[in-house]
Amino acid sequence: MSLATNKEIQADARRGAYAVGAFNTSNLEITQAIIEAAEEERSPVIVATSQSAIAYAGIEVLAALVRTMAQKISVPVSLHLDHGTDFDAIMGCIRHGWTSVMFDGSHEPFAKNVSATQEIVRIAHSAGLSVEAELGRLVGVEDQISVSEREAALTDPEEAVRFVAETGCDTLAVAIGTSHGAYKFQGEAKLDFERLEMIARGVAAQLVLHGASSVIPEILEKANAYGAQLSGAKGVPPEDIQRAVHLGITKVNIDTDLRLAFTAATREFLGTHPKIFDPRKIAGAGREAMKAVIKAKMQLLGSSGKG
Ligand code: G3H
Ligand code: 13P
Ligand code: ZN
Repeated sequence: MSLATNKEIQADARRGAYAVGAFNTSNLEITQAIIEAAEEERSPVIVATSQSAIAYAGIEVLAALVRTMAQKISVPVSLHLDHGTDFDAIMGCIRHGWTSVMFDGSHEPFAKNVSATQEIVRIAHSAGLSVEAELGRLVGVEDQISVSEREAALTDPEEAVRFVAETGCDTLAVAIGTSHGAYKFQGEAKLDFERLEMIARGVAAQLVLHGASSVIPEILEKANAYGAQLSGAKGVPPEDIQRAVHLGITKVNIDTDLRLAFTAATREFLGTHPKIFDPRKIAGAGREAMKAVIKAKMQLLGSSGKG
């Protein structure tokens, strides 16, 4: 099937009251895990590539991997640039067949974020891509900022309305208390659902939740049991993800949970198969673990059976 845009995939999700996972890839095995999971779950999917993933794999290679695998399955797949900050990198994705780009101007002051997003929207829309923008900043425990600074970083609902109207972005990433990586909370997870409700009520664009990995306890335990040192890692509980979807989130970004699944499975495999040195067996164990996580996420988000 030819690639779809995030705008199309998320509009369908909104109509069907579910969300679609955006899973980050940077190589063969992660892409296989994402595409095979989507086909087996009959789920739409967003394949996300960061600028550093593109630098790692090479833009032609990554585009060919995703496009070739997506053509063999019959569910909607989008090829999306995650956290685009560099103008030339965004233009490269547009030229190489990405169907959606994120422009992340979230660290800029409001006016600069608006003007830079407007420029990307103008170019990307004329090439047929959809655009995700971000308003508000994601801060985690590693950022070591005060409670009031943390609060100030969250998306302001009134600004969000103005931002979407002025930029014409198709989808908007919001900050409601999640953060990237494996160390999201000290103590209980705390998301600002009232804020999300207000944003969803006022904003026409589809909404995106970044930093949505759950840091699955059994996977973390396995990784640590086989030598990882990841104590204190904490993610967003699955029930909080479902509540966010219920309130209007239609794209849920997941990278850390795949990294952890790969790490736990390959550590276990190496630890229990000391005589095996075939990279396909080692990375293959990681691939199967990531695929299982992705399938479970699709079920959690309600996208299984919707492709
Ligand atoms: O939000 C960022 C993603 O987890 C990608 O991270 O830049 O290390 O590829 P990365
Ligand atoms: P996690 O680090 O929680 O997986 O978030 C990934 C993300 O937001 C990618 O844009
Ligand atoms: Zn993100």
